Amino acid sequence: MEKIAIIGLGMIGYEITKKYNELGYDTHIINRSDKGFFKNNDNITNHFVDITDENKIKKTIENINPDFVVNTAAFTNVDLCETEKEQAYKTNALSVGYVGAPCKKLNIPLCHISTDYVFDGEDGNYVENDEINPINYYGYTKAEGEKILNELNHDLTSIVRISVPYCISPVKVNFFMWVLDMLKKGEDMNILIDQWNTPTFINELVDGIVIIHKKDASGLFHFGGGEKVSRYEFALKVAEIFEMDKTPINPVESSEMNWKANRPKDTTLNNGKIERKLKIKLKTVDECLKEIKGSSYKFISELHH
Ligand SMILES: NC(=O)c1ccc[n+]([C@@H]2O[C@H](COP(=O)([O-])OP(=O)(O)OC[C@H]3O[C@@H](n4cnc5c(N)ncnc54)[C@H](OP(=O)(O)O)[C@@H]3O)[C@@H](O)[C@H]2O)c1
Repeated sequence: MEKIAIIGLGMIGYEITKKYNELGYDTHIINRSDKGFFKNNDNITNHFVDITDENKIKKTIENINPDFVVNTAAFTNVDLCETEKEQAYKTNALSVGYVGAPCKKLNIPLCHISTDYVFDGEDGNYVENDEINPINYYGYTKAEGEKILNELNHDLTSIVRISVPYCISPVKVNFFMWVLDMLKKGEDMNILIDQWNTPTFINELVDGIVIIHKKDASGLFHFGGGEKVSRYEFALKVAEIFEMDKTPINPVESSEMNWKANRPKDTTLNNGKIERKLKIKLKTVDECLKEIKGSSYKFISELHH
């Protein structure tokens, strides 16, 4: 049975683990803390490791000796990265090298998750070889992680940049879940009209990662969603598809927000390369939302945390 190692059991790591487990793989989770997920599952093994511990992560990967590694671990709180710089750099930059080195040594394919925040957001519709220019510390550390990984020159490496990932997650509340919940409660929310993305539907991403694995695809890939939307347009679509009253959605401009970290305006990703390489067509936001609506979805209050 093929062995998979998933590093980080956050929102994305959880969905990838679930998928590989459903596909019947011998699945290994490497995470620093026990979140209580995937207990008593014979095909899932937990390894509690802090990825900033170079020696321990190296030994863990070598001991598991998996057939494929996906690295989803990261310091993802964009505002906190501005004040906890040392931990952000260690997690998002240095640790990527700690994961990459044993993968290169043992010739294990590695898929590393990165972000649209490596761009400054002035242009949008970014292709993989567009110049990066992060405007906040989170984006800088993620860009450094990519650089460190590229410098290792491990041929079997894929770097997948995603954007505003969403699904119904039992692990973390994402933008989509928050909007859906606020709409259900009829509570007012201020949503940005001047920030654009190509939101990544996590179910689609997870299928894409399995294809990357099976096709031995390597290189840098943009994996947004099939449609450009502002946060405001996204929220309106949630109201429309889930047939809820849209009046609680108030349009606001980013200048009205009081964030620690700068936010890029338009980090839409051009998905042409991933669609060609994996022979897939990314769905529109409407299609993805309809898919969620058609499943047995839950609101935040109904999920166990
Ligand atoms: N969410 C977004 O909006 C977004 C957008 C673009 C790209 N991405 C990228 O997508 C990837 C996954 O994001 P996500 O949303 O799944 O993040 P997440 O829910 O915050 O999960 C991150 C995971 O990394 C783990 N982790 C953090 N520091 C660690 C350390 N030192 N040692 C071991 N594990 C550690 C966390 O463990 P704990 O649970 O113990 O904290 C958590 O399980 C990241 O690379 C992120 O940069 C995310």
